[in-house]
Amino acid sequence: MFQQYFGRNIEIDGDLKKFVLNIYYATMPNELRYNFDQIKTVVAHYKLGIICGMDRNGQYNAFDLLKQPHILIAGETGSGKSTQLRSILTTLIKTKKPSNLQLYLADCKKSEFHVFKKVEHVQCVLSNPKDIRKMLKHIKKELDERSNLTETFEVGHVDDLPSEHKRPYIIVCIDEFVMLRKDETIMYILTEIVAIGRTLGVFAILSMQRPNAQVLDTTIRANLTVSMGFKLRDKTESRIVNTPKAEKIEVAGRFIMNSNAFYELQAPYLKLEDAKKLLSPFYVYTNANIVNEDVNNNENEQIENNIFF
Ligand SMILES: Nc1ncnc2c1ncn2[C@@H]1O[C@H](COP(=O)(O)OP(=O)(O)OP(=O)(O)O)[C@@H](O)[C@H]1O
Ligand SMILES: [Mg+2]
Repeated sequence: MFQQYFGRNIEIDGDLKKFVLNIYYATMPNELRYNFDQIKTVVAHYKLGIICGMDRNGQYNAFDLLKQPHILIAGETGSGKSTQLRSILTTLIKTKKPSNLQLYLADCKKSEFHVFKKVEHVQCVLSNPKDIRKMLKHIKKELDERSNLTETFEVGHVDDLPSEHKRPYIIVCIDEFVMLRKDETIMYILTEIVAIGRTLGVFAILSMQRPNAQVLDTTIRANLTVSMGFKLRDKTESRIVNTPKAEKIEVAGRFIMNSNAFYELQAPYLKLEDAKKLLSPFYVYTNANIVNEDVNNNENEQIENNIFF
């Protein structure tokens, strides 16, 4: 009845006898252009600020990955998952130093992350499952080393290690990780990252098109502390992702976020061309793609040293 009268601009929350009815003057914008100058002030006070989107009241929503580690992004094809990853990663690259943050990117569809390939923070952009497995084995080694260090120095978090043993934060980001579900090693290491990564400074951001309870087994799901449900197929999927009503979304870039509480947000829209412009100052060149002879040789070495194959 209320909905018939007020239209879509209401929100009813509650149970049994007590309900709260919020009526908004404005609908949410269907498109919110990514604006780095605004976003940088929103994430400035976080160690690893994740920009999420804007709510109905025009407030940006962001959080610190150190406090709420590991993210699940789910949604039908065309709902805005990869675009959200692009804006999260671009924001991180522009606000963190490469000595502080390393990104390991995998994209089973080969289409999304090429824009990040030359960025200094980016250790790899992979799409072949074999390479992804090798990369994750490397991360597993890093987890073991970091556990040993925290034990040796009797600290609870890698941030508290003595400065000569400081390690950068690591984010492993996999677009469409469902395609890797049959690889036991990959799933085992991913489960380990989300289970113990937080205090070791290693985080995962995973996206999937068709959430399914077997792939998101309970250990993984319980440890992905934030989920973003873009348009989902039905109530079952919304329940698996833990983002109620995401099946009702009709707009690309709109999603329900679950992090302690539920929020309906519009994701900032960062187009590929705009991402390129924002990222180009962070490009370094390997031998294979040198176009400018002035490029510093040390930078080339740095990239090659990072190769773990
Ligand atoms: N935040 C946004 N605001 C407005 N439009 C958006 C937004 N995000 C995505 N779109 C629109 O939706 C299209 C698809 O987005 P995107 O590629 O991110 O979807 P996806 O969920 O990754 O799909 P797929 O599962 O097929 O990879 C974009 O090309 C753009 O037109
Ligand atoms: Mg995509």
